[in-house]
Amino acid sequence: MTTIMIDARVDEARAVDVASTLLREGKVVAIPTETVYGLAAIITNDDAIRGIFTAKGRPADNPLIVHVASFADVTSIAVVSPLAQRLMDAFFPGALTLVLPKRSHVSDLVTAGLDTVAVRMPDLAVTRAIIARAGAPVAAPSANLSGRPSPTTARHVLDDLDGKIAAVIDAGPCREGLESTVVRIVDEKVYILRPGSVSRNDIERCIDAPVATSVQDADLHRSPGTRYRHYAPHANVVLVDSIEEAIRERDADKGPTLLLAPIDLALDLPWRPLSAASLYAELRLADSLHVKKIIVHCDEQVRTNEALMNRLRKAAEPRTED
Ligand code: TXA
Ligand code: MG
Repeated sequence: MTTIMIDARVDEARAVDVASTLLREGKVVAIPTETVYGLAAIITNDDAIRGIFTAKGRPADNPLIVHVASFADVTSIAVVSPLAQRLMDAFFPGALTLVLPKRSHVSDLVTAGLDTVAVRMPDLAVTRAIIARAGAPVAAPSANLSGRPSPTTARHVLDDLDGKIAAVIDAGPCREGLESTVVRIVDEKVYILRPGSVSRNDIERCIDAPVATSVQDADLHRSPGTRYRHYAPHANVVLVDSIEEAIRERDADKGPTLLLAPIDLALDLPWRPLSAASLYAELRLADSLHVKKIIVHCDEQVRTNEALMNRLRKAAEPRTED
C-alpha cells in the first residue's frame, strides 16, 4: 500500500476531503492532534477498527480512545453525568479523555469488551472537520508501532507506518507532545488513569474537589494500556537533579551520550532542550543515533510536571526484552 501524505497547512480543504473519504471507505488514516498523532478508523466499521490493531501491532485487549467532533457525538456513544458534563465544558476540545459508560451499539473492538468508552475532542479544527465529514466518530490510538514513542510529527508516523496505512495528514509538530490525560468518573469522583497535558490542578480547579488518587480496585481504575510494556529507548535513561550529577554521569561513560536539559546550561557539553513537547522527538532521535546513555536534568519545573515526569520515569525503567 502506498501511504499518501497531505500537508493540511498547505491545502486544508483537500486534507479534509481526502482523509474523510478514506475514513468513510473503512481505511486507516493518521490524523494530527494537539497531543500526538493518532491512527484513526471510523467506529461504525469493525474491519476498519481491526486495521488499526494490525497496522500498529497492538494487543486487541487494549481499548481505543474515540475522537469526536461535537458534543452531540459524545452523547451518541456515551452516557454523560453532570460531573462529566462539567469536565467537558471546561476541557473539550482539548487534551482530556473521559472514560464514560458506553452506549450498547459501540463496538466491543473499540472498547475491548469493556462497558465504558474513552472519549476525547481534539483541539485542532482540521481534525474535527475530518471527523465531522467522516460522518461518525473515529477511534484513534497514538500512531506509532507498538513499543515505539508516540509520534509528534508526520515524519515520525511515516518512520513507523509507511506502507501500512492509507494516509497521513500533516499539521506540523504537535503543540503538547504528550498524550491526553485519561480520567474516569466513578460515583461522581474523578480518578486520573493516565497523567497528561491537562494537569491534576486544572481538573481540581474545575471540579472544585480533590482528584481521587487512592485506587482500591486496581483493575477498575487503571488504564488497561498501563499493563503493557511501554516504550523505553534503547539507551539507558538516567534522571539527575543537578548539573554536577549530569557531568558525573557523562564522565562515567565513554559511549555516545545525550544530555537533555530544560535550560541553557552554558556548559561545554553538547545538550538538547527538554520539554513536554520535545521529549518523544528526542527519544526517537537518540534511538536513531544509537546513543548509549540519555542523561536528563530534571529541574524544579520538570519535577512538578506530572505528565512529563511520568513519561521520563517510564523511559528510565529498565528495558525488558521479550
Ligand atoms: O492524546 C491522546 O490520548 C492520543 C491522541 C491520538 O488522541 N491517543 C492515545 O491513545 O494516547 P492510546 O491508545 O495510545 O492510549 C489510550 C489509553 C490507553 O492507556 C487505554 O488503555 C486507555 O486510554 N483507555 C481507552 N479506553 C479505555 C477505557 N474504556 N477504560 C480505561 N482506559 C481506557
Ligand atoms: Mg499509545
